[in-house]
Amino acid sequence: MKLEDVKKLLKTHEQSQLLAFWEQLDPAGRDNLLTQIEQLDFSKIDDWVANYVKNPSSAAVPADFAPALSYGSVPKDAEQRRKYNEARELGRKLISGGRVAAFAVAGGQGTRLGFDGPKGDFPISPVKNKTLFQIFAETIAAGAKKYRRACPWYIMTSPLNYEQTRAIFHSNNYYGLNENDVFIFQQGTLPNFDFDGKILLADKDKIACSPDGHGGSLKALYTSGAIEDMKKRGVEFISYFQIDNPLVNIFDPLFIGLHALDEAEMSSKALIKDGPKEKVGNFCLVDGRVTVIEYSDLPDREAEKRNPDGSLVFELGSIAIHIINTNFVEKLNAEGFTLPLHRAVKKIPHIDWTGKYIEPAEPNGIKLESFVFDALPLASKSMILQTVRSEEFAPVKNAAGIDSAETSREMMVARSADWLESAGVAVPRRPDGTADCVIEIAPSFALEKADIKAKLNQIPEIKPGDSVYLA
Ligand code: UTP
Repeated sequence: MKLEDVKKLLKTHEQSQLLAFWEQLDPAGRDNLLTQIEQLDFSKIDDWVANYVKNPSSAAVPADFAPALSYGSVPKDAEQRRKYNEARELGRKLISGGRVAAFAVAGGQGTRLGFDGPKGDFPISPVKNKTLFQIFAETIAAGAKKYRRACPWYIMTSPLNYEQTRAIFHSNNYYGLNENDVFIFQQGTLPNFDFDGKILLADKDKIACSPDGHGGSLKALYTSGAIEDMKKRGVEFISYFQIDNPLVNIFDPLFIGLHALDEAEMSSKALIKDGPKEKVGNFCLVDGRVTVIEYSDLPDREAEKRNPDGSLVFELGSIAIHIINTNFVEKLNAEGFTLPLHRAVKKIPHIDWTGKYIEPAEPNGIKLESFVFDALPLASKSMILQTVRSEEFAPVKNAAGIDSAETSREMMVARSADWLESAGVAVPRRPDGTADCVIEIAPSFALEKADIKAKLNQIPEIKPGDSVYLA
C-alpha cells in the first residue's frame, strides 16, 4: 500500500497517530510499521471502538436463559451406569486408536502471576518442582504408554512467547516426547486501545498488541495447519485444556466417550460452584444452546436462586476443559465465523505521543479478546460432564492468595493423598484434615486414581513430615 493510501485509511478510521513518528523512522522501521498497519482489520476497528472500547457494558446478557443440563460425576441410576460404562469403553478405544490429541492453550501473558516467561515454564510440582510443561509432557507420555499409542500434543502460543516456548522445549529435549509429536504454533493478536479508542504504540515503529484470547485458538488451529496435521494422523477429537491447570485429566475415557456417544461437536467439563458468585463462567441454555454467561454478567437475582434442595439453580461452573471435534473447527473456519470480543481494562506499556516510554501504574487502556467457550452455542450438540473440583481444578493464576501456586500445590498434594488413601494406603493427617506430608505422584506412576492399586507394593510407609515422590 502506498503511504498516501495508508494516511487516508488511518484518517478515515481516526488512527492517524500511528504515523506520529514516521519522520524519525529509518527505512526498516517504516517498513515494519507499514506491515503492521496493513495487517490491522480496518473493516472491524470502528465497530470495536464503538462497541467494546468505549462501551463498558458491551457484553449483552440474553433476555431468556435457563440452567444447562449435565451428566453427574457419578451415574444417577442403573441405566446411566450402563451408559457411563459404554462411554468409558468407547473413550478408551478412541484414545488407543489415535483419535484423540492433546491441546494446550499457552498463549496468555500471565500478567496476574507476574512470572517472567511463558506460564508453562512455571515450576509447580510439590516435591520435584517440575514445570507445568513438564507435568503435561509426562502425562502425555504416560497416556501413550497406557493406551499404547503416541498422542500428538498441540500447543498454542502467541507471537509474544512463541520463540521462548520453542527454545524451552528444545533445551529440555521435548521432555522425552518425540519432537514430531509436539506441534507449537501461534495465535493472532489484537491492537490495544487507549480509553478514547486510539490504538497505542509500543514503540515508534511498533503497534501495541496482545494475544487475541483463548478463543483465538479456533482460528489458529486452522490457519497454523494444526487441524490438517490432526486429520492426517486420524485425530477426530481435541482434548482442550489450559496450561495453568496441572490437575487436568487429559485422557478421560468417560468424557471423551460421552462426547462421542452423544455426537456432540464441543463438550465441556463443569464443577459445582462453591457459591453464587464464584468467579467462573456459568453454563446456561439460551435458545436451546449451551452458552456460558460470565460470573460478572449473571444478575445477582439469578446467581442466588436455589432449588428446593438448597443447591444453586445455576450451579455449573466452567473450568475450561473441553473436547472439540476437528470437523467442528474445520467447519467454523470454512463457513467463516466470529466470536464476540470481551474488553479488559489493563495497564498497557506504550510510548506517549512525545515518544516517551510509559510503564503505567494504573490501568490506561483496553485489551480485547475472544473466549473459547463462546463457540459452544455454535455447536449443533454440546455435552456437559460434571467433575469434582479436588480431582481436576487447581489453576495457577495469581502470585498469592486464591488460585496461586501455593493453593495449586496444596491441591496437588491433597489429590495425591486422596488417591493413595482410596487404595488403602495410610496417609498422616493434621488435625484440620490436611495431609501432614508432601506427596507427588508422577504421571508415569498413575494417571488416575484407579492406577494406584496396581502399584501398592512400590509405595513406602508415609510418616508425618515426609516428602514422598512416586514415579
Ligand atoms: P487467562 O485468561 O487466565 O490469562 O488464560 P493468562 O494470560 O494466563 O493470565 P492473565 O489474565 O494475564 O493474568 C487462561 C488460559 O488461556 C490461555 C492462557 O495461556 C491460559 O492457559 N490464553 C489466554 C491463551 O492461550 N491466549 C490468550 O490470548 C489468552
